[in-house]
Amino acid sequence: MSYEIETRCLYGNGEIFEKELTGAISFPIYQTATFAHKGVGRSTGYDYTRLQNPTREHLEQVVASLEGGTSAFAFSSGMAAITALFEVFQPGDHIIADEDLYGGSIRLFDNISRKNGLKLTRINLLTEDIEQYIDSSTKAIFFETPTNPMMNVIDIAKYAEVAKRHKLLLIVDNTFLSPYFQNPLSLGADVVIHSGTKFLAGHNDTLSGFVVTNNPEIEERMAFILKTVGSGLAPFDSWLVLRGIKTLPLRLERQQENAFLLAKWLRDNPRVKKVYYPGFEDSPGYEVIKKQASGFGSMITFEVDSVDTAYHILENVRLIHFAESLGGVETLITYPVTQTHADVPEEIRLKNGITDRILRLSVGVENGRDLIEEFERVFA
Ligand SMILES: Cc1ncc(COP(=O)(O)O)c(C=O)c1O
Repeated sequence: MSYEIETRCLYGNGEIFEKELTGAISFPIYQTATFAHKGVGRSTGYDYTRLQNPTREHLEQVVASLEGGTSAFAFSSGMAAITALFEVFQPGDHIIADEDLYGGSIRLFDNISRKNGLKLTRINLLTEDIEQYIDSSTKAIFFETPTNPMMNVIDIAKYAEVAKRHKLLLIVDNTFLSPYFQNPLSLGADVVIHSGTKFLAGHNDTLSGFVVTNNPEIEERMAFILKTVGSGLAPFDSWLVLRGIKTLPLRLERQQENAFLLAKWLRDNPRVKKVYYPGFEDSPGYEVIKKQASGFGSMITFEVDSVDTAYHILENVRLIHFAESLGGVETLITYPVTQTHADVPEEIRLKNGITDRILRLSVGVENGRDLIEEFERVFA
């Protein structure tokens, strides 16, 4: 990687210098379904947008450069990315996943992946010994860090060592910190997943998802799967994500600053029983996140004293929006039990600590004082 991350957010590693062709500073949106051939066997390199489109290709190169991967594949959503990645596995293959995951991933694993013959075991990667679950059919380890929504921090290098020793793929969903704060491939992961809808796109205006890897076999399989299943990101959406990524470092610095303010405020409020933010020095994941990431992000989960308080907050926010999603410039508050984790069986939700008193906050770029005043008004 020749450029630092702020520069890579604008140009990737500079593989495509569209500027040299037309002078356009903003990468063009190639809004076309197909591409003309100059003659038999004389493709321009682009044949049909499901296979590849220059705007998507440029975005993929930028994202690959941000994660330090050799390839990235852009999908129509984070779930489309995970679904496509799971096509690399065969019926009978076994995958070990962490217990605390985005509800959509749990729904995919329990309803689609199992139907397709995959065996899924969900364990607590913080407390359980993974070795006892690994057998000859085990092919991969999958986790998020920090996790959605309980903000558990999982040691990437530790599981990279386990994965290498047993020849498993280590798949890390890096949505919550983004490549600005954390690069799992550099810590030994084989595949990184993103819901690009979140910090990468960053404006709560488009969905997208990514699979990034530096494993040549996965690279080849993913290119084949993407063109076959057809869930690649459309040109206009690719352009929106490209534009969003340009300000990733600026947004994340500001979002993190605001997150610290709000996390401290919440911690001092008597109606708040617990604040899950890995930036606190006494949080359980602090040492690990310090070791493996360059920041703590802007996601905060907190537990209030009663369901009534939870409802009161959700129904009285004005500047902050009661909406699902995260990572954008607007601050959002989410109620995992009825939103992101509504389809997760209750016993699993409760085991992971997701009660009806848990709220999740994705802190945006507003003026920090305005956010505090919003909380003062809502909690008063
Ligand atoms: C950690 C994580 N992974 C994956 C997804 C799925 O992404 P998308 O909503 O873009 O399909 C989400 C969505 O909230 C998420 O939080």
